[in-house]
Amino acid sequence: MSTLLEHGRTHDCGSLRAADVGATVVLFGWVHRRRDLGARIFVQLRDRFGITQVVFGKDLDAGAYEAATGLRGEFCVAVQGTVVARGDNTNAAMATGEVEVNATALQVFSPADILPFNVADDDKLDASEALRLKHRYLDLRRPSLQKNFVLRSRLATLTRITLAEQGFLELETPYMVKYTPGGARNFLVPSRLNPGMFYALAESPQIFKQLFMVAGMDKYFQICRCFRDEDLRNDRQPEFTQIDVEISFATPERVFAPIERLIRRAWSEILGVALPDPFPRMTWAEAMNRFGSDKPDLRFGLEFVDITDLAHKSGAKIFEAAGLVKAIVVPAAHAEPLSRGRIDKLTELVKKRESGGAKGLAWAKVQEGGSWSSPLTKAISAEFQAEISARVGAEPGSVILVVADEPHTVHAALNALRLELRDSLDLVKHSSSDPWRFLWVTDFPLFEKSERGYVSAHHPFTSPRLDQIPLLDSDPSQVLAQAYDLVLNGNEVGGGSIRIHQSDVQAKIFQVLGLSEAQIQQKFGFLLDAFRYGPPPHGGIALGLDRLSMLMCGAQSLRDVIAFPKTQKGTDLMTGCPSGADDAQLAELYIRHRDLPATPES
Ligand code: AMO
Repeated sequence: MSTLLEHGRTHDCGSLRAADVGATVVLFGWVHRRRDLGARIFVQLRDRFGITQVVFGKDLDAGAYEAATGLRGEFCVAVQGTVVARGDNTNAAMATGEVEVNATALQVFSPADILPFNVADDDKLDASEALRLKHRYLDLRRPSLQKNFVLRSRLATLTRITLAEQGFLELETPYMVKYTPGGARNFLVPSRLNPGMFYALAESPQIFKQLFMVAGMDKYFQICRCFRDEDLRNDRQPEFTQIDVEISFATPERVFAPIERLIRRAWSEILGVALPDPFPRMTWAEAMNRFGSDKPDLRFGLEFVDITDLAHKSGAKIFEAAGLVKAIVVPAAHAEPLSRGRIDKLTELVKKRESGGAKGLAWAKVQEGGSWSSPLTKAISAEFQAEISARVGAEPGSVILVVADEPHTVHAALNALRLELRDSLDLVKHSSSDPWRFLWVTDFPLFEKSERGYVSAHHPFTSPRLDQIPLLDSDPSQVLAQAYDLVLNGNEVGGGSIRIHQSDVQAKIFQVLGLSEAQIQQKFGFLLDAFRYGPPPHGGIALGLDRLSMLMCGAQSLRDVIAFPKTQKGTDLMTGCPSGADDAQLAELYIRHRDLPATPES
């Protein structure tokens, strides 16, 4: 007798319908749920395509019934049987709910131990994330996670198709690359063949993709792993995947076009959502001004209103010396939960260093008739109250929140406040606007100031706007870059720039960055060499494939779209990684342990 495995499955577990009634079928899958009602044993059989109900009964097949009495959750099995209609018992919640399979044969491919957590109860899963990550292969069986990975795979496939159709070559770049100090913190790989030397794991293919342009490849893309030894958050993993793109003879618009085409197609084919063509654009300066963020979430309002001029004249001492005074207004419809206690909490928030470190939060509740209820009413006349209310568009019931400080502080504090109010007042749900708000943010500053002088805001090969090159000498802080980010609902999902291909401009940038000739040669000599041989003007972008997948799935963490992710501490709980290395291998690498820092008592 041939086995059911040799016979092969006739259908997957998601495909049987009423039209199949009467057919003899073979299904393979896992025991999702099992109910033993004595005369009948019902088994929900699951694979990644769906779930089918299988019925065992002595009268249907005594041997199969006998075998089914031993089944438990997550056994991997083959079932042969006849498709029958469920009639009045149709289960509308299941795609296969019109039918069930009366089993005539059962083969157990493999049993399963008692499960560490219940895979079937996906919607009321109470296992800790640590336990799920330890048994990630079981976690990944859960239908909700399987859906995420099907989506991620479709996005990757569509990326390849859409970019290839537009003339991009899919090319690979090395992961083991030259270590250059100063950028993102690299993971290091010691070289056995070159004792004392290290490779770095590539933080991105940036330099290599530029060299592809020098090599005449014209348009490149790669779905590529990047490695960064950063502090981790829900939207940051130490190894993550980019859709990396570079284009010769590029302008920003020539970079945006193929990316928009890819994203629009993905949203249309995967989510059935039509996105605007083109995506809106906003300069960095406007984004900071209106939202205090270079990745504004446009799904709700609460835009900033500048009231500096009025505030300076208002008579309130707290506003007098402030460089900038800006307000956001919570409209009456949403302001009710903003009690004094809640406003005190918001004040603590804006004072935190990570949310701007403002000195305080001024507030006013607009009452019927327009007068304010506010600690400021002693200082600010009714006339000025009315004028400020009119400027910011506050009506009776609205709450006005004001931060007065240096521009950087005002923007950071109000941004933190705006996002907190978004979450605590559920503003996205209440706003009727489009749920997918893509935005190109353009014209970033070229440099940021650090204690050590200027550093590149993006990377040192980013081109300044050509009309601003003279400012490199007079005031580098004012120079804008031909750099852009793609933002979705307040998340940075991509970033890129037009690169410098002119050696004189590049030399000038290195000079502003304070790099010596020796440092330039050591770090980037090979790139500058390449640029001596007719480099084309070029530019590109990298999209975060994990972040896009996360947002498309509605997931809260990258761990829900990365099959084998690391924890917040950079560990893999399933394999127990990272781990120590044995002394013999370390000796080959000329590496010796120094005293390890004491582990804090847990
Ligand atoms: P950048 O560093 O902005 O640009 O990265 C591009 C995009 O990659 C995603 N991303 C991450 N996703 C998950 N975990 C991380 N740790 C992480 N870091 C970044 C983000 C980000 O927008 N070489 C340039 C691109 C270019 O100029 O062409 C680069 O790597 O979505």
